[in-house]
Amino acid sequence: MRKAIWAALAVLMTIGGQASAQNYPSRPVTIIVPFSAGGPSDAMARILAERMKTALGETLLVENVTGAGGSVGVGRAVRSPADGYTISFGHLGTHVANGAIYKLGYDLVTDLEPVALLPSNPMIIVSKKDVPATSLKEFVAWLKAQPSPPTAGTAGAGSGSHIAGLYFENIAGVKLQYVPYRGTGPAMNDLVAGQIDLIVDQTSNSLPQVRAGNIRAYAITDSKRVESAPDIPTVDEAGLPGFHMTLWSGLWVPKDTPKDAVAKLNAAAVEALNDPAVRKQLENLGLEMPPKDKLTPEALGAWQKAEIAKWWPMIKAANVKVD
Ligand code: MLT
Repeated sequence: MRKAIWAALAVLMTIGGQASAQNYPSRPVTIIVPFSAGGPSDAMARILAERMKTALGETLLVENVTGAGGSVGVGRAVRSPADGYTISFGHLGTHVANGAIYKLGYDLVTDLEPVALLPSNPMIIVSKKDVPATSLKEFVAWLKAQPSPPTAGTAGAGSGSHIAGLYFENIAGVKLQYVPYRGTGPAMNDLVAGQIDLIVDQTSNSLPQVRAGNIRAYAITDSKRVESAPDIPTVDEAGLPGFHMTLWSGLWVPKDTPKDAVAKLNAAAVEALNDPAVRKQLENLGLEMPPKDKLTPEALGAWQKAEIAKWWPMIKAANVKVD
């Protein structure tokens, strides 16, 4: 008799599991953005969340959980229930670099399931408006002539803007003093106000301020110009050849999230990325859509592992200290 009850319970649990899988999602889904509102990660997450809700039939709520170069927000997502209702938004900094800088308390590969690769953009070297330089060469000369290291805004140690700053110091032979913020949204506010000297920023974050004439742009860290900003030279044209860095973003969920939930989230992200209005919004910010053959969860997983192999040696060699 006892066996029959257990067997019946097992069947009920299976049916229940299948039913919940079929009903997923049945309530709003949270996207944790590990940087403050108003920055490039926040902007991309909100644009995609707005369109993904059409595919999922449930609202996607963006929650900004900041600190420690984005690792606090990623940790919050890692420790969330693996039920498909919490997504970790992140990028090269949070889901690759942070693993080489912080004692995270979680593993960026084994404690997360990849969902989908998102758009990427090169970095852009920008300064406050009153720097008397009209080219990258003049800007580097200005940086070297300062009596103390110029101040570079970042989103914290390990953030994309911080990694890009380290790379810039290395290749240009300049010394910077990093000023950490909870995102490059607030860092940009201080750059526009002239409180800091520069940011090596995500292009998508800086372009609106460059177009408004509030900051100076010197070069794009890529071998080709950004289509929506054809007047900004590449680093190759501007005198820092080879300073190439592309910051890509992606979506993850906690490990052991049901496969059907991962598949539905991936399909919703891909549908959003194929939406002409979404593509126009993102491309106008200098963002490039991911290649169509890189849109599966497996492709993001393989990409993240390859980027860890590429970046960790340089980041560890930089011996970044985090308090
Ligand atoms: C970064 O520098 O890692 C990001 O651009 C920060 C942000 O998205 O606010």
